Amino acid sequence: MQKLEVLGANKLKGIVNISGSKNASLPILAATLLSNKKIYLKNLPKVKDIETMINLLKSMGSQIKFDKKDLIINNSKQNKKFASYNLVKTMRAGILVLGPLLAKFGNAKVSLPGGCAIGTRPVDIHLQALSKLGVKYKISQGYVHAAAPKGLIGSKIHFPKISVGATENLIIAASLAKGISILSNCAIEPEIKDLVNFLKKMGCKLKWIAKRSIKIIGVNHLNEASYSVMFDRIEAGTYLIAAAITEGSLKIKNVKPQVIKTEIDILKKIGAKIKVKKSEIHIEGRKKIKSTNLKTAPWPGLATDLQAQMMVLLCKANKKSVIQENIFENRFMHVAELNRMGAKILIKGNRAIIDGNTKFAAAELMATDLRASVSLVLAALTTKGKSLINRIYHLDRGYENIEKKLKKIGAKIRRVN
Ligand code: UD1
Repeated sequence: MQKLEVLGANKLKGIVNISGSKNASLPILAATLLSNKKIYLKNLPKVKDIETMINLLKSMGSQIKFDKKDLIINNSKQNKKFASYNLVKTMRAGILVLGPLLAKFGNAKVSLPGGCAIGTRPVDIHLQALSKLGVKYKISQGYVHAAAPKGLIGSKIHFPKISVGATENLIIAASLAKGISILSNCAIEPEIKDLVNFLKKMGCKLKWIAKRSIKIIGVNHLNEASYSVMFDRIEAGTYLIAAAITEGSLKIKNVKPQVIKTEIDILKKIGAKIKVKKSEIHIEGRKKIKSTNLKTAPWPGLATDLQAQMMVLLCKANKKSVIQENIFENRFMHVAELNRMGAKILIKGNRAIIDGNTKFAAAELMATDLRASVSLVLAALTTKGKSLINRIYHLDRGYENIEKKLKKIGAKIRRVN
């Protein structure tokens, strides 16, 4: 099994080109199922989760080919309505094909998803909301068997809790339903806005009518469409933290800074020097990192997908800090590994109390989920000596060319078998 070997502690310097967003690409790929017309997608990241979603679409009859870096999808012969456990087990976003399959065919059988082990992560909100569009479902042997005998019918849906995936599934499904849907208490993450922009390009009729409410008029005809996916704000945030934590100096390119304003403001607060341009962020890390208290929250709050990385940074702060995790109930799995490296982090419920001034010691480490893995890479980058990170397949699910990008800015990192 492959491992990452990291020799710290270099100051990272140079330019990082940020890739397309994994979390925007996944629902957009699922939404292509709605259409029988050709779809051209640009700026998809080359990461394992995207490969898995492409394989899932192919397994259901989508014809997909690459034209250099772009993807051309032709679903005119797509006819299967079955998403197998084998393809969905590693990736929770597999459930996102349920909405479009029901919209297109009126029935589907989709495996309950896998993904990162960061909580129980049920799909009850997806299913309850779909039932308001006329879907009947049962769960047996790990599969959701769902059917809409009269087709999907537009409805008013108020999500009981903000869920990124459920909002995406319902926005996609309602786009082809009969009549009008109003979805309220929606997640409004930038990736959802990107999905909506893509659907509009295909000819769907959607309009944000309040901060967390969207009106969708179902259509029955879609166009050919070409779309370029937004940048990966979590990758961008990770490299910003890498600069802040190594006293580095980085130019982060291909981004829209206003999309990660919350994270930029946090980094300024802890002492990093940041200049924002139209599509670039320049950051210089400082020796002194000031402690702070953070809470994860739905966008525009601090992204839970950057919580583990922020925690490594706060291990280096001058005083005690607290991070409260408000999205997932079990998202502190990186803490045990960071404590093995010498951090002093105490978990109390959904709060992590982080003693500052940590001098990490190099160690052999175990990656547990996607963002936890990258937090271990960050810790290793600040640490003198050789660290070895196991189970890096988690990293490959979401970070394009991570060791190439890090090497280019001065990290001593390599993949070993
Ligand atoms: C997406 C992102 C993930 C990010 C998360 C929160 C993708 C592919 N993944 O995950 O990287 O960390 O948003 O920003 O885009 N919940 C339920 N029932 C449901 C659905 C969700 O109880 O049916 C709970 C979850 O367990 C969690 C919370 O709601 O505690 C938020 O989850 P959700 O926003 O749905 O996250 P994902 O879409 O899975």
